[in-house]
Amino acid sequence: MKIGIDKIGFFTPHLYVDMEKLAEARNIDPAKFTIGIGQSQMAVPPITQDTVTMAANAALQILDEDDKQSVDFVIFGTETGVDHSKSAAVYVHGLLGIQPQARSIEVKQACFGATAAIQMAKGYIALHPESKVLVLASDIARYGLNTAGESTQGAGAVAMLISANPRILVLEDDNSMLTDDIMDFWRPIYSDKAFVDGKYSNEQYILFFTKVWQAYKEKTGLDFSDFEAICFHLPYTKMGKKALMAVLDDAAEEDASRLMDNYQVSTTYNRNVGNIYTGSLYLSLLSLLEQKEDLEAGSRIGLFSYGSGAVGEFFTGILEAGFQNHLFRDEHEKQFAARKEISVDEYEKIFEEQLPTDGSKVEFDIDEDPAVICLAGVEGHSRKYVNKQTV
Ligand code: HMG
Repeated sequence: MKIGIDKIGFFTPHLYVDMEKLAEARNIDPAKFTIGIGQSQMAVPPITQDTVTMAANAALQILDEDDKQSVDFVIFGTETGVDHSKSAAVYVHGLLGIQPQARSIEVKQACFGATAAIQMAKGYIALHPESKVLVLASDIARYGLNTAGESTQGAGAVAMLISANPRILVLEDDNSMLTDDIMDFWRPIYSDKAFVDGKYSNEQYILFFTKVWQAYKEKTGLDFSDFEAICFHLPYTKMGKKALMAVLDDAAEEDASRLMDNYQVSTTYNRNVGNIYTGSLYLSLLSLLEQKEDLEAGSRIGLFSYGSGAVGEFFTGILEAGFQNHLFRDEHEKQFAARKEISVDEYEKIFEEQLPTDGSKVEFDIDEDPAVICLAGVEGHSRKYVNKQTV
């Protein structure tokens, strides 16, 4: 049975900061951020967007009424959830009006969460071919003002519908996985910012990729020539390039240049959004699907997922005939075009804004936020979400 991605949507908040201006404000050569890190713009979430609203906005774009009746499993991958107990998936299930006879859960393993969700969804569809699974990947990457990680922050969500006979990408079954208990990046329960050993995390990312790629090749006998493109988890766009270059020494010139060119296309959206943690790999896939004009059905795409701590996985998919007709490219381009640049001062103010933690009531002006689904306030420790289409 063919199982895979039937629809894929994306949301990022409407505000961003320019990376050259951020570099200047930090007395850093702008080329370090735009070339050394490979980022041009960084999404900034206003207080009216959180992990739940971003995922709900991404899913709203792709789900029609039939999907809402067929989805019976919502799996939310995130490492920046809003509650230690209640899953973010339950909020999204309610905000979108998905039929009630469903499971809704959250999964976590750093940036690997959505990949775990997709693999779980695949197994579920194999047992229940009539069902559809909504996989959500949503995060806000925060390291702190004036930190080395600051240039690798970002915010956004990807929503994917996983089903039998998918219309975009059929997932193959030769995955190669790796787990190793390391401290390269982590966020203790009491901290709203990540801790990271930056250089070590880069090394481990590359090591994990070389190991899972090698294991995949040994298992399948496939090699570079069998791939049209390889998409990477992108904490910043230079990272995947370093990992790809680490294995391309043995590749034929033609394969190396195709993979490098397509890698470049696969970084298009990520370069202007920043790290969205668990959604980053899928945002890269979306960049490739929507921005490479001559991508052909039948092509094999490799996907490298990495979640610090750490778990890595290499897996693959084959593009379905007519996949282009099921993308939301115009909507995504409009979303980027409608974003508003803010100054570094404004970004810093937004970054420091916090929700009350003492149970007091606060209400936000959601007219300031063009998104359909917003966080309208907090009362009695409970977040109040609004879907503007249903009020
Ligand atoms: P840093 O110390 O600011 O930067 O940290 P650097 O000194 O390493 O420089 C970065 C690059 O810019 C280097 O290039 C420099 O040469 C270059 P490289 O040698 O690496 O190719 N550079 C310049 N280029 C052009 N013109 C210039 C210039 N100056 C320097 N003038 C670091 C960078 C990424 C480590 C930091 O931002 C950080 O700690 N970020 C967070 C951690 C991270 O993103 N790690 C990635 C792997 S782990 C991962 O992907 C998982 C993660 O997503 C979390 C999860 O799983 O949940 C993070």
